[in-house]
Amino acid sequence: MEFMDLRSDTITQPDEGMRRAMAEAPVGDDVFGDDPTVNLLQERMADLLGKEAALYLPSGTMANQTALRSLTHRGDQVICEDGAHVYRYEAGAPAALSGLLLTTIEGRGGVLTWDDIEPHLNPDDIHFAPPSLICIENTHNRAGGRIQPQDVVREISRHARTRGMAIHLDGARLWNAHVAGGLALSELAAPVDTVSLCFSKALGAPVGSILAGPRKVIVRAHRARKLFGGGWRQAGILAAACLYALDHNLPRLADDHRRAKRLAEGLDNSAVTLDHAVETNIVIYRTTDEQQLLDHLCDKGVLGVPFGPGRVRLMPHLMVDDDQIERVLDALNSYVEETA
Ligand SMILES: Cc1ncc(COP(=O)(O)O)c(C=O)c1O
Repeated sequence: MEFMDLRSDTITQPDEGMRRAMAEAPVGDDVFGDDPTVNLLQERMADLLGKEAALYLPSGTMANQTALRSLTHRGDQVICEDGAHVYRYEAGAPAALSGLLLTTIEGRGGVLTWDDIEPHLNPDDIHFAPPSLICIENTHNRAGGRIQPQDVVREISRHARTRGMAIHLDGARLWNAHVAGGLALSELAAPVDTVSLCFSKALGAPVGSILAGPRKVIVRAHRARKLFGGGWRQAGILAAACLYALDHNLPRLADDHRRAKRLAEGLDNSAVTLDHAVETNIVIYRTTDEQQLLDHLCDKGVLGVPFGPGRVRLMPHLMVDDDQIERVLDALNSYVEETA
């Protein structure tokens, strides 16, 4: 049986053109700063994001954690939304790697406003961890690819500045916010100090993330990347895939968004409901028994992932076409819940 794998937008494989670009890339030792393809990617991304400098790293987790490390001191308080990737899915790295105290706040659909944040900021008193950083996630994975309202991000930034706090944006899927919402990447990144983006998600590259920000922060991040074991050598082979993805795969994200909306609108099954309004490339369904629904989908050749109790996530990506989306819908709509 042919499987339609919608577990994640990370499962995509490099196509012929991308593999050729990788094979032909000029390379050097990136730990010496000698890799021309890595340097080109870093310059291009700094420019696209309107930041002074950028650093290419192996993963989104490492990009986030080098940012946290570079913007804080041990024992600082960091604020993030309760479903944030930096908190939930990075193996406790803020505590383990940087000695940070995370304060998590439950948002509405992954969105926190300044009014939500302010009451949780520790006072300036020796008993408390000093608040130094706010993390925002755009789009928000656990909230179903939700785009952060830009006026809310600007307001958080305005207040954070008056408190001397920094902001890091986990923009693993900022590409999707850009394509769906129409704001330039530089505009989305303007209110924050540092921003990370992943090429290995919807853009279809095999490896790599970028961290962009002020030059002096990126210098610190360079050291943190080395400390975390992310100093790499002829990484241009991988950076070439990212440059290719920027040129070929960024505009086509609109197709993923259209297909995700179709997966929402075509749902016709009383045993499955939609968890959220679909804004980008993530669709989360609700049902009584998520494993039972996943097993049914698997029997029909569709792979999804459990996403918390009673939740199943599907993600269209560049290896899924319109016909396959209709077959996924058939599989979903044929599910009949067997309540004992
Ligand atoms: C919002 C978000 N941030 C960061 C990451 C981490 O990326 P990586 O898997 O490359 O470490 C992910 C991965 O899914 C993510 O969804």
